[in-house]
Amino acid sequence: MAQPFADNNKTGLTRDLIEAMFPMFEQASAGAIAVDSECRITWINASYAALLGVDNPEAVIGQPVRPVIPHTRMPEVVASGRPLLLDIMEYGDQQLVVTRLPFFDESGAVIGAVAFVLYDDLQPLTPLVSKYRRLHQDLLAARKALARHARGTRYSLGDFVGASTAALEVKRRARLAAGRDMPVLILGETGTGKEVLAQSIHAVSGRAGKPFVGVNLAAVPENLLEAEFFGVVPGAFTGADKRAREGKFKLANGGTLFLDEVGDMPLALQAKLLRALQEGEIEALGSNRVESVDVRVIAATSRNLEAMMAEGSFRSDLYYRLNVLEIPIPPLRDRLADMGILCEALLEDICQGLGVRGEITDEGLEALSAHDWPGNIRELRNVLERALTMDEDSGTLDADAIFKVLPKQAASRSGKAGLHGGAAKPLSEVVAEAEAEAIRNALLVSRGNRSQAARLLGISRSALYEKLARVS
Ligand SMILES: Nc1ncnc2c1ncn2[C@@H]1O[C@H](COP(=O)(O)OP(=O)(O)OP(=O)(O)O)[C@@H](O)[C@H]1O
Ligand SMILES: [Mg+2]
Repeated sequence: MAQPFADNNKTGLTRDLIEAMFPMFEQASAGAIAVDSECRITWINASYAALLGVDNPEAVIGQPVRPVIPHTRMPEVVASGRPLLLDIMEYGDQQLVVTRLPFFDESGAVIGAVAFVLYDDLQPLTPLVSKYRRLHQDLLAARKALARHARGTRYSLGDFVGASTAALEVKRRARLAAGRDMPVLILGETGTGKEVLAQSIHAVSGRAGKPFVGVNLAAVPENLLEAEFFGVVPGAFTGADKRAREGKFKLANGGTLFLDEVGDMPLALQAKLLRALQEGEIEALGSNRVESVDVRVIAATSRNLEAMMAEGSFRSDLYYRLNVLEIPIPPLRDRLADMGILCEALLEDICQGLGVRGEITDEGLEALSAHDWPGNIRELRNVLERALTMDEDSGTLDADAIFKVLPKQAASRSGKAGLHGGAAKPLSEVVAEAEAEAIRNALLVSRGNRSQAARLLGISRSALYEKLARVS
């Protein structure tokens, strides 16, 4: 067969070199081909012709290369004068590892290109390919972790708005907690930002790239809690799911487990949780195999755990286990200095969501500061949102606009109304009335959300349901 460069002037060192090495390449490769400056085939060796299934190699000489090798990038090499040293080219159902070099005349003009098929199966490249696959998998895992992280936590420390001494102390402790891997107990009334803080701590901790998994102990029915925590193996009990279910501990592995409303945890589960925390091991329901887990626990509650310990409804050993660093979040009424900055931040957020403009006057702020805020910042946010939607035209919230939407003040906290004066009544009646009023207020503040109302009242949901049934 003719030589690939036979028609060309053989001058110049580069060409000499290429020509000297050519036979070696041709021999070692699984195929070789050359094209001219018009990308027409000038030469093809027998092995490439065989690889391409071309019966008569002579017949393709002078043909444009594209129809013969559809995915070839030789035209690119001819056009740019730059080699494509390593590439994977599809041919039918094969993947060919190819290298392509331009070919110049003495004046430096491209007069063609030559290509070699280095490998016609990827077998010799196995170490490289498996390394590539591993890297690719790592990349996918990293992307997933990022996405999970983005989903896992919505808040970071900047979202905990506040500049009062009390708020700054909360943030100082949160930063301290983030820097160490110790258990944290967040205490605060409803709506004070316990969840915001828990997520922030995770987001600035060394575990930030790992999952943040929350369990709300007040929201999960008691009989499902253990499975929720530790997972279930398939068919663990009658009626159990055929598939295995991962527990929250496992899901949070490497990251943070947020035990929200930890004061609502049944005693039996408290013992199991304590064991899991002490041993760093869990056992899925229906399995007899323990698995180690590595989670940092952040617990939160609006209940008075010390009082609960005193009455025996919260285990003291668990309390001390969880309460290595305590972060009490003061209620809004105790940090009124933050009212202005909070309103500003909340209004900005609300306005963005609603696509409206909004600001609050000094009188508006004063009206807010006079309120007792049983629902704290969540309630403040609701009030601002309602005031804005009712008063969309001006977008300026003055005292009137605020008073219109402020919930009726709960009577119970300061005992200002309802219980004083009037004729003496049997104590049971007074207590029943006070209770009914407290329930009404809690439902009003929580806008009918019974779980939240129960939390506000410091009683369990089932107790609230019972009381409601009695009242109505
Ligand atoms: N310091 C804060 N700065 C800005 N927004 C806050 C702050 N604290 C709370 N919020 C907002 O108030 C709302 C309630 O916060 P969060 O859910 O964290 O409270 P919580 O203490 O967990 O309440 P609950 O006890 O009812 O579960 C959220 O919308 C949150 O964004
Ligand atoms: Mg919460």
